Amino acid sequence: MEIQNWKKMLIPYTQAVDELKIKFKAIRKECKTLDEYSPIEFVTGRVKNISSILEKAKKKNIPLSQIEDKIEDIAGIRIMCQFVEDIYRVINIVRARDNKDMIIIEERNYIENTKASGYRSYHIIIKYPVQTAMGERFIFAEIQIRTLAMNFWATIEHSLRYKYRQNMPHELQDRLIKAAQAAYLLDQEMSAIRDEVLRAQTNLPEESHLVGDILANIQTLFKQQITRELQATQDKFWQLWETSNMEELELFNEELAAKIIK
Ligand code: GTP
Ligand code: MG
Repeated sequence: MEIQNWKKMLIPYTQAVDELKIKFKAIRKECKTLDEYSPIEFVTGRVKNISSILEKAKKKNIPLSQIEDKIEDIAGIRIMCQFVEDIYRVINIVRARDNKDMIIIEERNYIENTKASGYRSYHIIIKYPVQTAMGERFIFAEIQIRTLAMNFWATIEHSLRYKYRQNMPHELQDRLIKAAQAAYLLDQEMSAIRDEVLRAQTNLPEESHLVGDILANIQTLFKQQITRELQATQDKFWQLWETSNMEELELFNEELAAKIIK
């Protein structure tokens, strides 16, 4: 391949990364709009730069003519999750799209099979159809799914590995392995309190909507001068609000709404 063709070669990869980023961000947006918890915290993507492509080809003895068939991560997508459980939800979302807008080629579970370095993540290699001016083309893309803790570790480890190349001091290697174990423990601890965290993250907006509705209804009643019951109504509201019983609050709100003269 001639050097001036490199830029041209990368065009469909850029398009694939852009499209995949939009698609996974849309899942997050959809969940959040429905006031639901999103298994996706954030999404990033990148096209491997030419020098890294050449370096990888050299390391793996891949002839230049076979780069696109042998290097699977020229297009890379990273999906960050809060909890390990979410990773498996995202995996199922991707699997459900197999043979629809992407084809799953391989899955690599470095969560169950932690690498010697300490690296953990779930990788899915896909073939993704890109619509080009010359028609449809299937290109490889690598989707890495990981928790925030796994991402923190991998980002730090990557920059150190890059700095030291093959000569990382043993002490630093040992520390990185310890740090990986700490990240693993953090993920475990977070999973243990996951239900509690989910309740805190999902119920709050719902409760504040409801409280907003109730206060608006009390105000409407007030304006309509149904004042006799007002004090009792307000007292009842505070009493229910203190107990944070959502069902009772909802019932209470329905009663209020019924009193309003439409
Ligand atoms: P390369 O590792 O990229 O040469 O490809 P491979 O064919 O060996 O695939 P593998 O599944 O091992 O790794 C793919 C990608 O996972 C890498 O490009 C990195 O982004 C990431 N990765 C794998 N191992 C490590 C690791 O030990 N540390 C960090 N930080 N990232 C890793
Ligand atoms: Mg590797």
